[in-house]
Amino acid sequence: MFNFNYRNPTHIVFGRDRLSELDKLVPANARVLVLYGGGSVKRFGTLARVLHALGNRTVFEFGGIEANPQYHTLMQAVELVRRESIDFLLAVGGGSVMDGTKFIAVAAPFEGDTSSLLYHGFNPAPATKVLPLGIIATLPATGSEMNPYAVISHNNGKHSLSHAELFPQFSLLDPSLSFSLPPIQVANGVVDAFVHVLEQYATYPVNARVQDRFAEGILRTLIEIGPQTVAEPDNYDARANLMWSATCALNGMLGVGVPMDWTSHMIGHELTALFGIDHAQTLAILLPAVWTERKSQKHAKLLQYAERVWDIHEGDEQSKVLEAIARTRDFFERLGLKTRLRDYGVARPDIDRVIQALDQHGMHTLSERGDINLEISRRILELAW
Ligand code: NZQ
Ligand code: ZN
Repeated sequence: MFNFNYRNPTHIVFGRDRLSELDKLVPANARVLVLYGGGSVKRFGTLARVLHALGNRTVFEFGGIEANPQYHTLMQAVELVRRESIDFLLAVGGGSVMDGTKFIAVAAPFEGDTSSLLYHGFNPAPATKVLPLGIIATLPATGSEMNPYAVISHNNGKHSLSHAELFPQFSLLDPSLSFSLPPIQVANGVVDAFVHVLEQYATYPVNARVQDRFAEGILRTLIEIGPQTVAEPDNYDARANLMWSATCALNGMLGVGVPMDWTSHMIGHELTALFGIDHAQTLAILLPAVWTERKSQKHAKLLQYAERVWDIHEGDEQSKVLEAIARTRDFFERLGLKTRLRDYGVARPDIDRVIQALDQHGMHTLSERGDINLEISRRILELAW
């Protein structure tokens, strides 16, 4: 196991009927900005309940944060925060609202060019002050509710933002707030969480038994409850297990002390930026292709995955690995996600545009070993087509 530091200060408030506790979670004298997306929180009554729970605090609202949140939209909220001296941000929504809110938390107090905050990759943004934020999650998927990361769209690219002070102060996770999700968004959530686990797991062994078994437990849980929670939207137990799986999948616990491979995410961001494919669907397309291309480099962990997650015990090692890749693809398809680039209307020559975008964004050394160059990315995309 590699050396590591681990710190996660986010207070999780999990379960039914806990919205009224907002009154204790948000400072009494705060000037609060409540942020939300395209309107689902209005349609399903969550926003009204949140505003009620905030009592007589001074509250402002900012709606209209789109999926794959755009820098220019978020800058309108930054201006509101500055104009009204807002000192607490409350995100109510899915990963896009959470991430947009994180950007605003860094950008509002920032004195330089705010767009420059988006060009530091996985390094921390050079901000000295970050506004405190809280989250009310309505979509279990990204793990943003318990991590210090955001992904923001700017200039036809999706850019990672991180900062040690970007952990939410609290995240209120009430599975019943997600009952109103359309089935495709639930399926997206299962796949996003599943792939988050795998990009911290399917690399090479470093004898990190706790991380491996924690990962395998989440994967098996998602396989058990994934199709069920898509089919039974108001099954509380299934949704609660999805919600906690998604949070644990990317709250940092799985990635400590182990190599990670974010190739599917990095190429996937270009597919979203270029073709508008939902984030999780880009992962369903790419993960089986990445593994097919990299099955020898990842052999030991893919074999472990085959045996411990899918209970594949027959056949030789190679056939077990191939069977595990096939079952993974089948799992995504059963949830309702297509797994080929062509299924989303992308033409084969469009692969050139993806390669150009990867080049432009400096994605020349992907994978746990940094050895996926543009030529190998092209092979992955061809396998994914
Ligand atoms: O905008 P509204 O009207 O609220 O509708 C949303 C949106 O259309 C809807 N929705 C959310 N909660 C709902 C609901 N509809 C009915 N009932 C509810 N309870 O769902 C749609 C999708 O929402 P979005 O927030 O875009 O989805 P998701 O949570 O999957 O977030 C995706 C974003 O997160 C980023 C992705 O890149 C993408 O931009 N990621 C963030 C990460 C992080 N911060 O750690 C890691 C991830 O890998 C990911 O990259
Ligand atoms: Zn993701």
